[in-house]
Parts: sequence; structure tokens; C-alpha cells
Amino acid sequence: MPTITAETATGTITIDAQAGRKLVLELEDNGIDVLHRCGGNARCTTCGIEVISGDAGDKTEAEIAVLTAKGIDNENFRLSCQIRCENDLSVKILRQASTAGIEPGTRPEE
Ligand code: FES
Repeated sequence: MPTITAETATGTITIDAQAGRKLVLELEDNGIDVLHRCGGNARCTTCGIEVISGDAGDKTEAEIAVLTAKGIDNENFRLSCQIRCENDLSVKILRQASTAGIEPGTRPEE
């Protein structure tokens, strides 16, 4: 069971994640109001997180495409809707509904 450590606007949360599940869903189901404005379709980048340590796995083709299109070349910036929880990971949540003042967006599919 991968352990996810997430730095949020209101403190650090530790999650025992279900292996293979999307990171964005594990974050949301553990009380973190991470944004996911495009519904987990690798289009908006609002679900972006910073990888502090651990292996987030390879980027999906869709993730590579949107990061390239938006000119984001920070290797530690990843899309939580495209990461599967396979390994222990420490991340920083970059955009939350409560601090952005907007709705999180449509919930991504499992
Ligand atoms: S890129 Fe939009 S929710 Fe992940």
C-alpha cells in the first residue's frame, strides 16, 4: 500500500493509498480539495502537484502533450489525474478550491 504525503494549504496529510488508483482521487477522498477542472482529462493542468520525493511513474502521453502545449518544463510538476499510486510519494498540492475560490471541477473517473 503506497503512502502518499501531501503538503496542503492547511497542513500535511498522510494517505494510505490504494495501489493503482489515481492520485487525484486519493487526494480528494482524503479531504484535500485539489482542483481538477477538466475532469481528469489532462487538459487543464489545475490538478498539478509538485513531486517532492518518490517515484510518480512515467508520464502518460496525454500528460506530456498538455505540459508541452503549455510550455511547462519543470520535471517535478506532474498532473495528479495522470499519476497512479504505485510507490510512496511526497507531494505538494499547488491549487486547491478553498484557496483559489473556485469549484474543484467534475470528479475524474476511477
Ligand atoms: S489536467 Fe485537468 S484534471 Fe488533471
